[in-house]
Amino acid sequence: MKLAVVGGGSTYTPELVDGIARLRATLPVTELVLVDPDTGRLEPVGALARRILARQDHPARVSWTADLDAAADGADAVLLQLRVGGQAARHQDETWPLECGCVGQETTGAGGLAKALRTVPVVLDIAERVRRRNPAAWIVDFTNPVGIVTRALLTAGHRAVGLCNVAIGFQRKFAALLGVDPREVTLGHVGLNHLTWERSVRVDGRDVLPRLLAEHGEAIAADLRMPRELLDRLGVVPSYYLRYFYRHDAVVEELRTRPSRAAEVADMERELLAMYRDPALDEKPALLAKRGGAFYSEAAVALTSSLLSGTGDVQVVNTLNNGTLPFLPDDAVVEVPAAVDGQGARPLPVRPLEPLFAGLVAGVTAYEHLALEAALKGGRDRVFRALLAHPLVGQSDSADRLTDALLAHNREHLAWA
Ligand code: G6P
Ligand code: MN
Repeated sequence: MKLAVVGGGSTYTPELVDGIARLRATLPVTELVLVDPDTGRLEPVGALARRILARQDHPARVSWTADLDAAADGADAVLLQLRVGGQAARHQDETWPLECGCVGQETTGAGGLAKALRTVPVVLDIAERVRRRNPAAWIVDFTNPVGIVTRALLTAGHRAVGLCNVAIGFQRKFAALLGVDPREVTLGHVGLNHLTWERSVRVDGRDVLPRLLAEHGEAIAADLRMPRELLDRLGVVPSYYLRYFYRHDAVVEELRTRPSRAAEVADMERELLAMYRDPALDEKPALLAKRGGAFYSEAAVALTSSLLSGTGDVQVVNTLNNGTLPFLPDDAVVEVPAAVDGQGARPLPVRPLEPLFAGLVAGVTAYEHLALEAALKGGRDRVFRALLAHPLVGQSDSADRLTDALLAHNREHLAWA
């Protein structure tokens, strides 16, 4: 089985390769190709990937290239984990919105829109080239903002599934708190990418969420950096990203006084790359655990395996709504448990979403629709409309100021601006 990883020069790649090495029974990779325009990164990352596999006697051949077409040739699956403009562009997304009183975040709010506008055309171009070479290949998208990027891919008719590690992170966390194997834990995960809630946590068919909140509410809330009382009042566990909604103004104040996450990550990346260059290193370094990508490899290996071997098992993915949440259009992309096989992902039925969550989901879905319009067609007015529709913006003067700032900071990445 041949796997191509676009954005393969990412410092996350050793996480993925570690998963490929450990989980070879699930995903028998024989050829791994890392693709990246940044050849300076490919060399140390690729060489470390070889050492990680060799240490575990894994037979896969590893190569690296800047040539996407060659990499896509014969690939069974193509993983997208790229970041247009790197951490420098992310730093912008995390800072200029703060000047307008809005959260500065790489996937949520105005910063997330900027990232979508930069990313969608690049990803669609990559997917088109993959399809020309290899129409049967599956595209697994980890590239943010995953909801909008996956919607772009599916609307263009690609064989694609969107992936995020939030759900698998909760599954592992809850399993550890309950003292059970993660495979025994089934999440009632619902919403949109980076806008989800766990409405149930089942072990042996029984919902243990009330017990989890009663016994471990403090620890769960501390992890999410939300007040425990809020979790108790909601009766569900929101994802970390709901902080940007439920505690918006407090988060803005906090972000104003701190270095951006992009700056922190850029420092970590420098350190990681220096470690990767050490020929004695043959495993993923502990420092990588400080990135947000925990269990990304497990999730990616499991998803790719089910797509290629057609197991039909249930995983949380991003895919077309098609009536799952009846108040959303069919072509919206939702993040829910789905049966995954060689035909793709089919969401399981979801019980009606309470108004407390449904309102936000509907609002952000409308924003994602308008964000995709703006990414595909360009134009100041389309950017403005997307921002005006976003539940965290809403007011016309903020939307106007944010539109101007977004365009000013992203001209080099936007062909139409
Ligand atoms: C989580 C999210 C990813 C996001 C990452 C950021 O894993 O699910 O979508 O990219 O956090 O982590 P970082 O270390 O780059 O801040
Ligand atoms: Mn994610």
